[in-house]
Amino acid sequence: MSLNDSPNGRKYSDEYQRSLGDPEGFWLEAAQAVEWVTEPTSAYSGVDAPLTRWFPDGELNTAWNALDRHVAAGRGDQLALIHDSAMVGTVTTYTYSELTAEVARFAGVLRAQGVGRGDRVVIYLPMIPEAAIAMLATARLGAIHSVVFGGFAANELAVRIRDAAPKAVVTTSGGLEPNRHVEYLPTVHEALATAGAPELPVIVKHRDGFATDPAALGWNHVDWDAALAVAQPAGPVTVKATDPLYILYTSGTTGTPKGVVRDNGGHAVALLWTMANLYDIHAGDVWWTASDVGWVVGHSYIVYGPLLAGATTVMYEGKPVGTPDAGAFWRVIEQHGVKALFTAPTALRAIRKMDPEAELLKAYDAGSLQTLFTAGERLDTATFHWASKVLGVPVVDHWWQTETGWGIVGNPRGLDPLPIKAGSPTLPMPGYDLRIVDGYGAPVGVGEEGNIVLGLPLPPGTLTTLWGDDQRYVDSYLSAFDGYYATGDSGYVDGDGYVYVMGRTDDVINVAGHRLSTGAIEQVVGKHPAVAECAVIGVADALKGQKAVGYVVLKSGVSIDPDALQKELVALVRKEIGPVADFKNATIVDALPKTRSGKILRKTMRQIADGDDYTVPSTIEDPSVIENLVPILSAR
Ligand code: COA
Ligand code: AMP
Repeated sequence: MSLNDSPNGRKYSDEYQRSLGDPEGFWLEAAQAVEWVTEPTSAYSGVDAPLTRWFPDGELNTAWNALDRHVAAGRGDQLALIHDSAMVGTVTTYTYSELTAEVARFAGVLRAQGVGRGDRVVIYLPMIPEAAIAMLATARLGAIHSVVFGGFAANELAVRIRDAAPKAVVTTSGGLEPNRHVEYLPTVHEALATAGAPELPVIVKHRDGFATDPAALGWNHVDWDAALAVAQPAGPVTVKATDPLYILYTSGTTGTPKGVVRDNGGHAVALLWTMANLYDIHAGDVWWTASDVGWVVGHSYIVYGPLLAGATTVMYEGKPVGTPDAGAFWRVIEQHGVKALFTAPTALRAIRKMDPEAELLKAYDAGSLQTLFTAGERLDTATFHWASKVLGVPVVDHWWQTETGWGIVGNPRGLDPLPIKAGSPTLPMPGYDLRIVDGYGAPVGVGEEGNIVLGLPLPPGTLTTLWGDDQRYVDSYLSAFDGYYATGDSGYVDGDGYVYVMGRTDDVINVAGHRLSTGAIEQVVGKHPAVAECAVIGVADALKGQKAVGYVVLKSGVSIDPDALQKELVALVRKEIGPVADFKNATIVDALPKTRSGKILRKTMRQIADGDDYTVPSTIEDPSVIENLVPILSAR
C-alpha cells in the first residue's frame, strides 16, 4: 500500500466486521503500511495471553518509519514539524530531512550517555520541538521513553523516575505558562534527590530567560546544544515489534500511577490505520493536535501518528485563550493551512466563554479546515452545536484512553463517514469488540447504562502491560470481567449501535481534559497535620468538565481557620502533585458518610454536589451524616 492511497471506497461496516471475523487477515493487511526490517508472518500471538503480543516475528524501527522513510521516498523537503509558540511569538519549521538529521544527532547524544536498546529515558519538557526530537531519538536507539507532563511537581516526577529507572533524563531550563515562568531545573533536582538518583545524566535544553547554571547544583549535567554540536549521528536500531516503544504513566484509582507500556509494531500499524481511515490524513496534509506531548493524545497525534503518515504536524505552545486571545486557534489554522484540528472540548468551552459569537473567527480564513476532532472527555452537546455552527465543518467526537493509545469508538472520516449524533462518539473502531455489561458481566439491554468492556485480545497499539508489573495489569483491567478488558467507563448503546460514554465508574476524574486520581489527591490532603480523614470528589464544572473538591474532617481537638486550612491544602497539593491538579476547594465537615464496612460514599456525595438524583445505600452507617452534608455539598 502506498502512503497516498486513499482508503475511500471501503465501508466502515465491512471493515469492522472483517476486523473481528478475520483479525489475522485484517491486521496483516494494515501492517503493509509499515516498512518493516522483517515483515511479520502472523498478526496476533496468544503465547503470553492475557498479555497482548502483536506481530510477534516482525522487526522495525519506529523512528525510521516516522522520518528517514519519507526522506528516502523523496519527500525530504516537505515540512514535518511546525512549532508555533504563541507564548514567544515564533514559528520554527523542520523539513523531514532536517528533523531526521536532528533526531539522528540527538540519538548520538543519548548514545554517548550510554543509552542503548531497551534502556529508558525520562523526558520532562514543555511543548518545544526538543520534546518530539528527544522522543524520536530515543525510539531511534531502540530505547524506551517516558514523557512526564510539565504540570506535574517534583514528587510525581520522582515516582516515575524511580519506577522507570532511566539511563538519562532530558529536560529544559524553563516552560512558559501565561501567568508565570516555570523553572524546570529545581523541580528536576528535587525529583532526582527524592528518587535517590542524583548521578543520573540530565540533558538540559536552555531557554532564554531562565536560570542557566544547573552545573553549579552539582549534577551530571549535559548541555543540549553543546552536546549536539559535537554528536555523531546514530542510525536506527532494529527492534522487535513486541519491544516497548514507550511507557506513559497515567492515573489509576490509587496514588501510584500506572506505567502503560506501548509496543513498537502494533503501535505503528494502528496509528497508520487511524491516520488514513479515522482522520483522513495522508502524506502532505497539515494536521494539528492541540494537546501536550505529556499526554497520550500528544504521543499518538502530535508526534507519532502524523509523522508515520508523512503529514506535517503542528506543535503549539500556547493556550486556546489568553495567548493572546480567543482567536488563537483560528490564527494557527489560517497561518499553517491546517486540514484537521484535534483538541479537547474544554478548550472549545474556553473559547466559547470568551467569544460566544466567535467574532474573532471573522478576522481569519479558516477555510483549510475540513474536520474538528475532539477527545479527552465527553463532547457535551452545547459545545458540539456551537463548534459545528461557528466552524461549519463536521465536529467529530471520539473516545479513547491512555491505555488504548487510539480511538475505541469513533467516526471514520476516511471510510464512509457515518452520521454524527450529538453526545455520541459514534461506533466501535476495528478490533474493539465492545459490550455493555452489568456488575456481574451479564449484557444489558439497548439504551441501558452499564460498564463498557472490550473483548480480548485488544487490537494492535493498545497497552501490552503495565511497566514491571504484569500482575497489576491483570488485576486492574482483566480480572473484573472474564475475557474482557474493563475500561472503567460506563455508558450505553442505542438502537443504531451508537455508543454513549457517560463517565468513570472509579475514582478517576477528568479536569480540563487531564486525567487525575482523586485517591492521589486524598493521599496528599491526608498528610496535613490537622486532617483526620478526607474525601476528594470530582464535581461538574462548566469550563473544565470536572474539578476536584475536598471535604475534610479535622483531628479531634484541632481548631484551624477554614480559609487558612484551604490555602495550606491547596499549596500542599500543588507542591506534591502539581498545578495541573487544579485543586482549589477544601471544606471542613463534621463527618464523612460511610458504609458499615467503612467505605466512604464518594459517589453519593458527587451526585448530591452535582444536583443529580441519588439513593443513599442501605449499608450506610449513620444516615444523619449525609443529611447534614446535603446543604454543604449542594452549596459548593
Ligand atoms: N507546566 C506547568 N504548569 C502547567 C502546565 C504545564 N505544562 N499546564 C498547566 N499548568 C498549570 C496552569 O498554569 C494552571 O496553573 P495556575 O493554577 O497557576 O493558573 C494549572 O496548571 C491548571 O491548568 P489548566 O487546568 O490547564 O487551566 P488553565 O486555566 O491554565 O487553562 C484551558 C484552561 C481549558 C484553557 C486548558 O486547560 C486547555 O487548553 N485544556 C486543553 C487540555 C488538553 O489539551 N488536554 C489533553 C487531552 S486531549
Ligand atoms: P486519558 O487516559 O487521559 O485519555 O483519559 C481517558 C478517560 O477520559 C476515559 O476513560 C474517559 O473517561 C474520558 N474520555 C476520553 N475521551 C472521551 C470521550 N470522547 N467521551 C467521553 N469520555 C472520554
